[in-house]
Amino acid sequence: MAVNIDGDGCRCSNAPVEITRDHPLRALNTFGLPAVAPWFARVSSPTDLREALDFARGHDLPVLPLGGGSNLVLAGDPPGLVLHVAIPGFDGIEDGPQGVLLRVGAGEEWNALVDRCLGLGLYGLENLVLVPGTAGAAPIQNIGAYGVEARDLLVEVEAVEVATGRVRTFSNDECAFGYRDSVFKGVLQDRFVIVATTLRLSREPSVKASYGALAGELAARGIAHPTPLDVAEAVRHLRRTRLPDPAVTGNAGSFFQNPVVDDRTAAGLRAAHPDLPTFAADGGCTKLAAAWLIERCGFKGARRGAAGVHPSHALVLVNHGGATGRDILALAAEIRAAVLARFGVVLAIEPRVIG
Ligand code: FAD
Ligand code: EPU
Repeated sequence: MAVNIDGDGCRCSNAPVEITRDHPLRALNTFGLPAVAPWFARVSSPTDLREALDFARGHDLPVLPLGGGSNLVLAGDPPGLVLHVAIPGFDGIEDGPQGVLLRVGAGEEWNALVDRCLGLGLYGLENLVLVPGTAGAAPIQNIGAYGVEARDLLVEVEAVEVATGRVRTFSNDECAFGYRDSVFKGVLQDRFVIVATTLRLSREPSVKASYGALAGELAARGIAHPTPLDVAEAVRHLRRTRLPDPAVTGNAGSFFQNPVVDDRTAAGLRAAHPDLPTFAADGGCTKLAAAWLIERCGFKGARRGAAGVHPSHALVLVNHGGATGRDILALAAEIRAAVLARFGVVLAIEPRVIG
């Protein structure tokens, strides 16, 4: 096995996990929204996690797992114990003709993982470069970008049940992945803490470059036969030009999902609005570009106090500094009402809303 193995997720000290009160969360969410965790623990090993879950059960506290906080809207304080999952791990567990199986700790930073795999000549993740957050959160909404989703690479997900502390392994099928969806976002929300994921990567490049904007960017670069590194570089460029950097302007990426409608609805909308961008979706349905709908309602670059819509991308709500979660949700409600009134389309919020 040529994949480096460093870090088995074990705790280096015997000190019990530290559980603190009234922990500020502003620095732990990419929107930069103010909120306070009544109870907080950073868990960096399975032992830490077991102790923290024992504590939550003993005090009858609900548990909110937290990764990089890049898909959250904190509109109030979460109840109970916020578990900041920082469990490391990067272990090659199989290397054969079917590809390389890599077990990744939930606390690993996703983009660093992509870069590391590319550096080792392990391919498959390149389209998902620069997606913020942790590896443990990738299955939650089945992250996707530029023609690839986490479900294309995830073999299984290892999680600890909050109620019992038991470990359960979910196969890809059991995760019930969909567009920005999984069982962990639905009936199992907050019932399991993901501790590791297993990905199937390949030593043989198998480039996926048919996604419109990506194909266009590669063509503009004069690249007819892209390598995985070309794809990663093109995606980096596209993302940097379209999306605000959360280190500069608070945001959670796309604020709404692209609405998925039946063909009849899509045909009606296309007839009325021939320039509406549409894409094929699962089950013969059609995905509409939410950004286009929002832009046509006049919100691109709009501001309501410190809450705003990004001037370069109408699907990204931003915190210009000092906004609260309530300010962001008030702007979101205004946008949803306008899109519904003008196009008859309901927009669903993508990030998790707390409070
Ligand atoms: P958090 O925000 O910390 O948590 C999100 C949800 O997952 C919460 O419900 C939380 O309770 C749960 N959760 C987190 N960790 C665990 C765990 N270990 N066990 C159980 N539950 C857990 N998403 C895309 O799909 N595609 C994109 O292209 C994309 N681009 C983005 C660009 C920007 C600039 C930003 C800010 C966000 C973008 N996102 C995108 C959204 C976000 O990056 C992903 O949803 C990411 O997977 C969230 O990871 P996180 O660790 O920050 O999760
Ligand atoms: N568009 C507009 N106005 C805008 C921006 C875009 O009309 O202000 C149009 C574009 O012209 C394009 C269409 O909307 O035809 C789609 O835009 P884009 O390619 O930027 O992608 P998106 O649909 O807005 C989705 C994901 C992103 C992902 C990209 C690339 C969702 C909700 N969002 O964005 O994921 O990175 O595609 O695959 O599916 C996220 O989930 O947080 C996220 C950033």
